[in-house]
Amino acid sequence: MNHRFEIHPGGQRVSYSSRKSAEDYERQISEQGKLGMSFAQKPDICQTIFRKFFTTFQQAASIFQSSNSPSGLNVSVTLSPEMPGWNNVIEGLPSEVKLHDHSGPRYLVAKTDATNLQLLDPTTLEPLASASYKALDSRLDGQLSASHSCWDKETNEFYNFSCKFGGRFPTYKVFRIKGDGSVDIIARIEDAPLSYLHSLAMTSK
Ligand SMILES: [Fe+2]
Repeated sequence: MNHRFEIHPGGQRVSYSSRKSAEDYERQISEQGKLGMSFAQKPDICQTIFRKFFTTFQQAASIFQSSNSPSGLNVSVTLSPEMPGWNNVIEGLPSEVKLHDHSGPRYLVAKTDATNLQLLDPTTLEPLASASYKALDSRLDGQLSASHSCWDKETNEFYNFSCKFGGRFPTYKVFRIKGDGSVDIIARIEDAPLSYLHSLAMTSK
C-alpha cells in the first residue's frame, strides 16, 4: 500500500489518498495459497531472528518469478520522485500508459532491498510498470540493492549498489545514475562477504 499526502498551497489543507501496489501479486498468493518461496512455509526460529533477511530474500527471489504485470511484485519500501535512468523503460511502455503531465514529478519509482523496481503514477499511485535495475542498465545484474538509496539534489545523481550472489564472495557494484540516464559503475567489490544493506547515506565530503 502506498500513501499520498498532498499539501496544498498555503499549507492550510492536506489531501490524503492510498492505493494498493501489488494486487496481482496478492492474487497470485491467494490462488496458490502460499508465498512464492519455501522459506516462509516452515516455522523456524531463524525466521524470527533473521526475519528481515528472509523478507529481503523472498523479495529478491521474486525476481525469478516472471511477472509482466505492473502490480505483480511487492516493491513498496521507499519512493523516489522522477528517479533518473528510466527513459528506455518509459519509451517501451504500452501506448495506453500515459505519464503524468501536470506540474510536479512525472512519475514515482518504488524501491525495495531486492533489485525490483516499480513505476507509479504520482497522482493516482497506479502501478504503471514493474522493472529492475537491470532493465535500466544490463550491468546492474545483482539480486540486492538498498531500499534507501542516495540522491544528490545538486547534480540530480542517484546512487545505490547492486549485489550479485555467486562464488565465494558476491559481487558488489556501487553505481551512479546521472540526470541524463547514463550509468557509471563507480566501484566493484569482489572480496567482501554477503551483507544485508538496507540504507545508504551520503555527505558532501
Ligand atoms: Fe527503512
